[in-house]
Amino acid sequence: MSPAANEPSPSKPRPKPPIVVGITGASGSILGFRLIEELLKLGQSVQLVITEKSYQVIFEETGLKMGGQNKAIRVLDHLNLPESMVDLLEVFENNRLDAAPSSGTHMTQGMVVIPCSMGTLGRIANGITDTLVARAADVTMKEHRKLVVVPRESPFNQIHLRNLSMLAQCGVVILPPMLTFYLPDFGTIDGQINYTIGKVLDQFGLGHDLYTRWGQHIPAAGASAPLSSQA
Ligand SMILES: Cc1cc2nc3c(=O)[nH]c(=O)nc-3n(C[C@H](O)[C@H](O)[C@H](O)COP(=O)(O)O)c2cc1C
Repeated sequence: MSPAANEPSPSKPRPKPPIVVGITGASGSILGFRLIEELLKLGQSVQLVITEKSYQVIFEETGLKMGGQNKAIRVLDHLNLPESMVDLLEVFENNRLDAAPSSGTHMTQGMVVIPCSMGTLGRIANGITDTLVARAADVTMKEHRKLVVVPRESPFNQIHLRNLSMLAQCGVVILPPMLTFYLPDFGTIDGQINYTIGKVLDQFGLGHDLYTRWGQHIPAAGASAPLSSQA
């Protein structure tokens, strides 16, 4: 007979809830894949939603074909991660409105939309939840969980800015992939990508070595010493 529902069960450590990652059809799909890579390397489970519109951009930018079956395995192969990690990665089509991240009863640690197209941004900001990525973001907000949006467009028009502002007012973290130059770490494209991925990981309190933190760096020759170390 199974133990009664109110009987204390031997304490088993529960796995940490997943982080939902949405990759949409904006340029910068590499950002989404690098984030997944870092999360998986940290042992963090990921529920990935990829929009159909992103397939072409992903192919143009990475050579990875996203259509068809076995997406999780193909993502792991693309990232040079072992296929044994497949238990940490679940991939959903964007039309799967019945998938777990569609419901607030499904526990997650939050969601990152990276890169976020202006189309998906508009859907999220206006509560249009006809795609899984928009519905999962909507659920993340209503459950007061962390939502990070990495928008990619240049220049922004007034509609983009209004939508970004609306989300910021709702507590969403707007984290654009901004060019950054103040440390030598940022001097390559990889360095720039690491900067954005590190900033996303910081939002979830996840430790990383993707860049040297200000205050732990060796100041450039001729730069003034921090005030605290001046006589
Ligand atoms: C090569 C390529 C690059 C694109 N880059 C962007 C972009 O940086 N930002 C953006 O908002 N849309 C971009 N788009 C357009 C989006 O893919 C398009 O608006 C799409 O409908 C977004 O749908 P989704 O939000 O469901 O992924 C790009 C399209 C292509 C083909």
